[in-house]
Amino acid sequence: MNKNDLIIRVAGEGGEGIISTGDFITQACARAGLEVYTFKTFPAEIKGGYAMYQTRASAAPLFNQGDTFDILCAFNGEAYDLNRSRLRPGTAFVYDGPGGDFEPDVPEGVHAYAIPMTQTARQLGSIKAKNMVALGALSQLFSIPEQPLREIIAAKFTKKGTTVLESNLNAFTRGRELAAALPKTDPWKMEASAQKRDVVVLSGNDAIGLGALIAGLDFFAAYPITPATEIARYVARHLPKRGGTLIQAEDEIASLAQVLGASFAGKKAMTATSGPGLALMGEMLGMSFMSETPCVVVDVQRGGPSTGLPTKHEQSDLFMAIHGSHGDCGRIVLSVEGVSDCIALTVEAFNLAEKYQCPVLLLSDGSLAFSTQTVPYPEPADYPIVARKSWDGKGDYQRYVITDDYISPMAAPGTPGGMHIATGLEHDQNGEPNYTGANHEAMQAKRFRKLDTVVNDVAPVEVDGEGNADIGIIAWGSTIGVVREAIARLRADGHSVKGFYPKLLWPMPVEQYEAFAATCGKIMLPEVNYLGQLAHFIRAETSLRPVSYTICGGLPFTPAMIVGKTKEMLS
Ligand code: COA
Repeated sequence: MNKNDLIIRVAGEGGEGIISTGDFITQACARAGLEVYTFKTFPAEIKGGYAMYQTRASAAPLFNQGDTFDILCAFNGEAYDLNRSRLRPGTAFVYDGPGGDFEPDVPEGVHAYAIPMTQTARQLGSIKAKNMVALGALSQLFSIPEQPLREIIAAKFTKKGTTVLESNLNAFTRGRELAAALPKTDPWKMEASAQKRDVVVLSGNDAIGLGALIAGLDFFAAYPITPATEIARYVARHLPKRGGTLIQAEDEIASLAQVLGASFAGKKAMTATSGPGLALMGEMLGMSFMSETPCVVVDVQRGGPSTGLPTKHEQSDLFMAIHGSHGDCGRIVLSVEGVSDCIALTVEAFNLAEKYQCPVLLLSDGSLAFSTQTVPYPEPADYPIVARKSWDGKGDYQRYVITDDYISPMAAPGTPGGMHIATGLEHDQNGEPNYTGANHEAMQAKRFRKLDTVVNDVAPVEVDGEGNADIGIIAWGSTIGVVREAIARLRADGHSVKGFYPKLLWPMPVEQYEAFAATCGKIMLPEVNYLGQLAHFIRAETSLRPVSYTICGGLPFTPAMIVGKTKEMLS
């Protein structure tokens, strides 16, 4: 039996090359014309601890990591213990043995293949190559094409020297031979797609970097933090080629301050961080709003509070993203569903920041940050770019003049006649500090009222389904992809379900929420945080009373969980 939606999980210890192995499988699947959607989880330590990489490959579009694996490859006893409960009849199980650190009691009906990964790597003189023995075995057992894998291995290890490359290729070959000597009893096989498509495989973090470059990024400053650092690494590789500047600042406060300085000077500027860094940026977000200086702040959410679970998935920064600062401080908050969104909504974030001259926060999450997915080859010309309203040089310049749309023209420093002060102090229309109550009221109204039209400028939500439904599911961030699949399954079972996927989280598209609710019997809102943060805002801003379904175990939802909860609510 072939299956057109196959999930392979590789698990072991951080430092054993689990991530590389999963990456290689993913690239080979993509080269075979398949859609891929990956999920990785690894420890906060550089070496040691449980690391896992799951590749889902299919000829059909994929929106999430799936429920559970069809094939498990365990490098050690811990990986086996943590996954044993998911070894159901029919699953294929490849493990390190004999000579590994465990002897599995394989559950009935599971197709087990013992491959002496550690022993073989030792015999070949390189324990590092254990993962390539495993990869060779997986390639042989499940028809993951050999030649592309050899090319991918060469592309990764050539820079580490000929000895490393050769020992890895030998280990890969040996792994194939060991597996070929075993009788294949399971049904799983990777089926290449006949259809060749113009796609790229990108991680969420890289896609945000790419989106920023498409938007016209000139300046990037950040302080490294898991799981956001790869955005800076991507930008560092590409921004200097076109004359842009990247600075690793001394901390997150400085990085946003530098971004605001660059933006004041007329440059498109952004920073990227995670929860603890965003917490430090509160004051500078206020500065951006008060001085009407555009900026894009990416927050790749991770488990919190405090240093929390640095490498784990959570959607728990929404309270801080929407209101984190002092005083009444406005902003726009967007959130991404998948890698395509990471490109498109990053461009959108810049467009909105430039148009509305305010901070725009883009929320991603730990699962999406490292998830690699196939996306159509992005053509920069397909993304409309919006420029800030600039001063025409006529008359006396007033930086904060109150206009019909409350957006004031900006003059870059050095523009003749356009000299002005941009300050965090309350100021009048000229930019001069002014603390009178009447002025503060007028200027606050100006800064907030310009945001009234944001909802009309973006596609704030996507509604999945028409007419009335027994149940409506609202989801945000990468949970949307999970809900899409759950809804498809529920409909296939004859249930009446609709989905509502807001990409603009703030300001809230209240009318759209109300219109959706009017067509649904009950509303459910799954989110990966303890408090039900979006549900809280919905209760505060709309008449909806969604049933919150929250988890915070460091992992995303699966479609099966959403299906189960929906059926429970329906009954
Ligand atoms: N031969 C030679 N080198 C190999 C190899 C092989 N067969 N297989 C893997 N490697 C190399 C990889 O190339 C990589 O080196 P590189 O970074 O120079 O490319 C290294 O070994 C690690 O392998 P990799 O597959 O990338 O990861 P892993 O599965 O062994 O797991 C991590 C290690 C990634 C989980 C761990 O190092 C890590 O980064 N943890 C997270 C730390 C963190 O962010 N903490 C939070 C702080 S707040």
